[in-house]
Amino acid sequence: MGSYAGASAAIFVTWLLLPAGFFVVVSGQFNYKDALTKSLIFLEAQRSGKLPPNNRLPWRGDSALDDGKTANVDLTGGYYDAGDNVKYGLPMAFTVTTLSWAAIFYRSELQAAGELDNVHAAIRWGTDYFLKASSRRKRLYVQVGDPVVDHQCWVRPENMQTTRTVLKIDESTPGSEIAAETSAAMAASSIVFRGIDHKYSRLLLNKAKLLFQFAKSHKGTFDGECPFYCSCTGYNDELLWAATWLYTATKRSMYLKYIQEEAISAYVAEFSWDLKYAGAQILLSDLYFKGEKSLESLKVQGDSFVCSVLPDSPYRQIYRTPGGMIYVRDGANTQYVTGTAFLLSVYSDILAKYNRTVYCGADKQFDSAYLMAFAKQQMDYLLGQNPQKRSYMVGFGTNPPKQAHHRGASVPKLSADSILSCASSFITWFNNDLPNPNELTGAIVGGPDRYDNFHDKRWDSPKTEPCTYINSLAVGVLAKLASSGHHV
Ligand SMILES: *[C@@H]1O[C@H](CO)[C@@H](O)[C@H](O)[C@H]1NC(C)=O
Repeated sequence: MGSYAGASAAIFVTWLLLPAGFFVVVSGQFNYKDALTKSLIFLEAQRSGKLPPNNRLPWRGDSALDDGKTANVDLTGGYYDAGDNVKYGLPMAFTVTTLSWAAIFYRSELQAAGELDNVHAAIRWGTDYFLKASSRRKRLYVQVGDPVVDHQCWVRPENMQTTRTVLKIDESTPGSEIAAETSAAMAASSIVFRGIDHKYSRLLLNKAKLLFQFAKSHKGTFDGECPFYCSCTGYNDELLWAATWLYTATKRSMYLKYIQEEAISAYVAEFSWDLKYAGAQILLSDLYFKGEKSLESLKVQGDSFVCSVLPDSPYRQIYRTPGGMIYVRDGANTQYVTGTAFLLSVYSDILAKYNRTVYCGADKQFDSAYLMAFAKQQMDYLLGQNPQKRSYMVGFGTNPPKQAHHRGASVPKLSADSILSCASSFITWFNNDLPNPNELTGAIVGGPDRYDNFHDKRWDSPKTEPCTYINSLAVGVLAKLASSGHHV
């Protein structure tokens, strides 16, 4: 067991149960480089603030140029998280952390694909914003926009008139998960920019240290992003994740000591904007293999994550649809697909580097090639190898989504002074059942349900809404697949 052939055989058995026509697609291969390029264009479509002249989306313009004004602080820039026009700190930071991880781990693959500069620009669009949001000590601005008011209006960010409420965390209103995730984003991105812009990198690392200190000295969960981004899992995962990135960036023993002695870890089967244990565990496994034996329990937990998702594992916990896609829950489910594919791809490379395998029970082991084959199968599902025989990335492959649940893409470009009432905006642009006038190139939408069913309808937001972190988690694994040796 544990060979590439083994993986193919296992998948083959599943496919035999499907209609014959589906089998034809199996040998298909995808243009991963094109998918990679497009996945980064989507992140450009999510940019808030004053756009640079090299903006690649003709239908996007400057927006939210007064963000922060009500609080007397410049909070322009950053990213809209999904199909709405709110800037949420927690998922934005996770997007930047995971994008930075891809940029560090798959640097040469991204460079070979000609996308490294675009990834760096995407990271910087986030970190420039976080530097503004953290400009005052022991304070972090964590949200701009009022989700309730925003969700009552279907307008593009360039024309929005809704209130831009500002939320912050500080000593009296703590938010350890957001502070720690932002710390992780700053620490990881400081590694990315180390050899490119030394001063900027130092600035990011310094903020990362302060935010981590703040997160652990003022412990508490912030519920201000509820019910849109409630951290259901608490902040222990973000504290471990931040310490892991700080140790990776600094190699200072105080962070390793924190990981060994203070941090809380857990056995988990999912990796998402809310739950980061598995990411930290896999990063720390590399240090374990390198010789840091004190990290054994974290490496064991990382293996447990892998064993909970692999289809042939005796400890499998994660459900897969009949067509083979990881399914955790409705609503941006594809984040679990890209997140798992990314972690397995990274771990596959770590296992190869140290000539190791993963044991799921005493006599079942999986090797590097098996993990990568499964990661590839998950990405291939999204790109078109699925029972619907359609792509779930806008503007890519066969029959891609045309009605992404996204304000900017579904409202035509209007002059800056056009004002449409919120009520009529829904009738005119949301309910019209027509393809979006603007192609939201590269967006991976929420995806099919547990039965592989998909409805390309704007109002079916669990299926058609994109999110920045679905794509940030796809970037590294697409770069890996685009590099030679992973074409069928
Ligand atoms: C890798 O590990 C296997 C078994 O653990 C061993 O037989 C093989 O020689 C190793 N290969 C290298 C290159 O070290």
